[in-house]
Amino acid sequence: MSIISKDISKAVALLNNEELVAIPTETVYGLAGNIYSKTAITSIFTTKQRPLFNPLIVHIPSIHHLDTIVSAIPEKATQLARAFWPGSLTLVLPKKDTIPDIITAGKTTVAVRVPNHPLTLELLKQLEFPLAAPSANPFNRISPTTAQHVDAYFKDAIQMVLDGGACKNGIESTIVGFENNEPVIYRLGSISVEDIEAIVGPITIKNKKENNPEAPGMLDKHYAPTTPTVLSHDILETLTKYPNKRVGILAFKEQLKNDKVTHQITVSKIGDLVEATSKLYEALHQLDHLNLDVIIAEIFPDYGLGKSINDRLQRAAHAS
Ligand code: TXA
Ligand code: MG
Repeated sequence: MSIISKDISKAVALLNNEELVAIPTETVYGLAGNIYSKTAITSIFTTKQRPLFNPLIVHIPSIHHLDTIVSAIPEKATQLARAFWPGSLTLVLPKKDTIPDIITAGKTTVAVRVPNHPLTLELLKQLEFPLAAPSANPFNRISPTTAQHVDAYFKDAIQMVLDGGACKNGIESTIVGFENNEPVIYRLGSISVEDIEAIVGPITIKNKKENNPEAPGMLDKHYAPTTPTVLSHDILETLTKYPNKRVGILAFKEQLKNDKVTHQITVSKIGDLVEATSKLYEALHQLDHLNLDVIIAEIFPDYGLGKSINDRLQRAAHAS
């Protein structure tokens, strides 16, 4: 067990000592360390079993720290940062020479955001360095949205989880990079495409590894439960393919009447995509702990946050 606590001064002491602390954000929990400590950053990669080619996101306390991290800021990046920070938008921009190569996996760009969680903002203000923080899950697993999820994954491997309760948004930040000063979405996430387009106009989406070597972390199989997961437009129809199996269902708003189902979770009975997003990973964590033969997940409406949910479900289902 790691210590699960709200004690910011303890987190400060550990981080100053080049140790890792899991931190709450409004998206998912992160596994945080001092970006300038080789010891801390190496330990992030080994603890997560994350390949070194996959770069980390740098977390800063406010927009005013951005120019200590990046060397150029396109106009549209400023507009997006002003619109969404603190919040679930990560910007990929040319890095300053002072940012260690291990953070960026040798790339000339760095990913950076201001998270929107009171405990973590306070923590960042008290530290003299930014925090690198990938999601606090072992490589390829579902991201944690509670302190308990983090503890279940890492136990003694990390000393402390700063307990900020359940993450409000529930999926990772939306990542936006720039090509010829024009924004490009590298990862769908907690801020919808429509909300970003309302600030900067029509935007290209390059969130598949086939069309984007710029987003090295966008593996097809990712965010995955260990239980085989299939996607469906018609759950009742898909159910007929699994007679005599232990089946779990993840549905958007309908509650199914079917006594063959072992467990079902409906993420938003009122059909609200924001609520559905906030409950998505908790639902997958729960279903994954029931020794099911298969999880059938409903395909969500393909707009707003539904698009981001479908992206994660497709990766969860890939090759299973
Ligand atoms: O919501 C979030 O973004 C959470 C919280 C903890 O802030 N963090 C998170 O980090 O999801 P992680 O490491 O699980 O995902 C970071 C993604 C990876 O897909 C990585 O490849 C991409 O960001 N990334 C990081 N630096 C990049 C860069 N310079 N260029 C392109 N993609 C980059
Ligand atoms: Mg991750």
